[in-house]
Amino acid sequence: MIVTIDGPSGVGKSTVTKGLAARLGFEYLDTGAMFRAVALVMIRAGIDLDDHAAVAAALAGRHIEVPPGRVVVNGEDVTGLIRTPEVSQGASKVGLVPAVRRFLADEQRQAAAGHNIVCEGRDQGAFVFPDAPFKFFLTADPRVRAERRAAELAQKGQTVTVEEVLADQLERDARDALREIAPMKPAADAVIVDTTHLTTEDVIAQLERAVLSCPTAR
Ligand code: DC
Repeated sequence: MIVTIDGPSGVGKSTVTKGLAARLGFEYLDTGAMFRAVALVMIRAGIDLDDHAAVAAALAGRHIEVPPGRVVVNGEDVTGLIRTPEVSQGASKVGLVPAVRRFLADEQRQAAAGHNIVCEGRDQGAFVFPDAPFKFFLTADPRVRAERRAAELAQKGQTVTVEEVLADQLERDARDALREIAPMKPAADAVIVDTTHLTTEDVIAQLERAVLSCPTAR
């Protein structure tokens, strides 16, 4: 059974995904981490991320795994290296490359096959798992998203202004939503949840109720 959770940056998808997965006893898949890992590989190799042919060629022989809470590229744990602003923007840029999207969609389908799993990202419900029985799309006011993210970073000791976070998020959201292949969008049958005035706990509870209200999910 696959549950998909999509939505823009900073909307709280990761926390909700992990929380919902824990409640349901499911695994979870952070597909953003996979795009981040690809970006890291390319940046390290000195590849111009706007050169789509070079990015596609450099995918050969790469294998990306995302065991819970970690990201491993060809056996190297890169978990601690993928949350920088450079890699965030890089992930959004490599997400424009058709070969990257195909490569990661294959890996995502393989990772989910035969599992009870909550998959989070931008294109999970509309493109990668169109037959998933439960699809959610989270939204929130952009400024509220930026405030939440800045507060989260402050807790980790990183001082970033709300304006800086907002600018970064808006740039990525526009690129992610306007790309030609598998743009960020709700699946036609997704439940859209506006989290602007909800706590994380409220959102998890709402999603859990929706899943458990279906007899086959229990
Ligand atoms: O969820 P995140 O912030 O870790 O994702 C980083 C970037 O990766 C995001 O801006 C766009 C890209 N991405 C994507 O194109 N498709 C996905 N399913 C997940 C992420």
